[in-house]
Amino acid sequence: MKYQLIAFDAYGTLLDVYAVAARAEQLFPGHGKSLSQLWRDKQLEYTRLISLADSSAQGSQHYQSFWDITTAALRYSCKQLGLNLTPESEAQLLAQYAHLDPFSESKQVLGNVRALGLKTCVLSNGNSEMLSSALGHSQLAHYFDAVISVDEARQFKITPASYQLVLKHFPVAKDRVLFISCNAWDIIGANWFGFDTFWVNRYQLPFEEIGIAPSYSGFNLNDLMPYLKTTPSASQ
Ligand code: LAC
Repeated sequence: MKYQLIAFDAYGTLLDVYAVAARAEQLFPGHGKSLSQLWRDKQLEYTRLISLADSSAQGSQHYQSFWDITTAALRYSCKQLGLNLTPESEAQLLAQYAHLDPFSESKQVLGNVRALGLKTCVLSNGNSEMLSSALGHSQLAHYFDAVISVDEARQFKITPASYQLVLKHFPVAKDRVLFISCNAWDIIGANWFGFDTFWVNRYQLPFEEIGIAPSYSGFNLNDLMPYLKTTPSASQ
């Protein structure tokens, strides 16, 4: 078997963030899609600002938890779109992140990966509280040997310090790790770091025009399994 450890991104990869957009549409009819898109873009932009301004392995001096960044990004997005975000609406939208459902195939695939004898972990920008709440609610927590938050490094993906956390928790060679994400930028970061990657291209998007193409890709997590069973050195 080529891989010893399968590392998963969380939001959008294992956990379905659709409910966040649906709640946004309920609260702001006609604006749910634009709000959820801007919110996600701002959330990621803020992570990059913080890590780009100080990417030291000791952590960014500008670090804030993903929960705080998610809150700030929501407030900004509502202001930009001219939406009146009451404290109640804010609490409802944020609560969705703590109570996400898994994608329909997530449990089955995680069970199958474990049945192959592989170690599994999550590496997410989410802080530990968000992750334990969402993975607990979605009943995925027990499928992992470790749930790793970038909080530990105080650096967001795609800094090398964030991906390094995987190797801190598991003493395996970089090339024995397969990293799984629905985010093309996360795939680029993991590939640059030295992991093999599987891109969950749920929305059938073209891959980015920079970076290294994913080692493998598919349209959902089910498409991962053939690659685990038929990797070139699978018989070793
Ligand atoms: C994560 C987000 C970025 O879980 O999807 O890290």
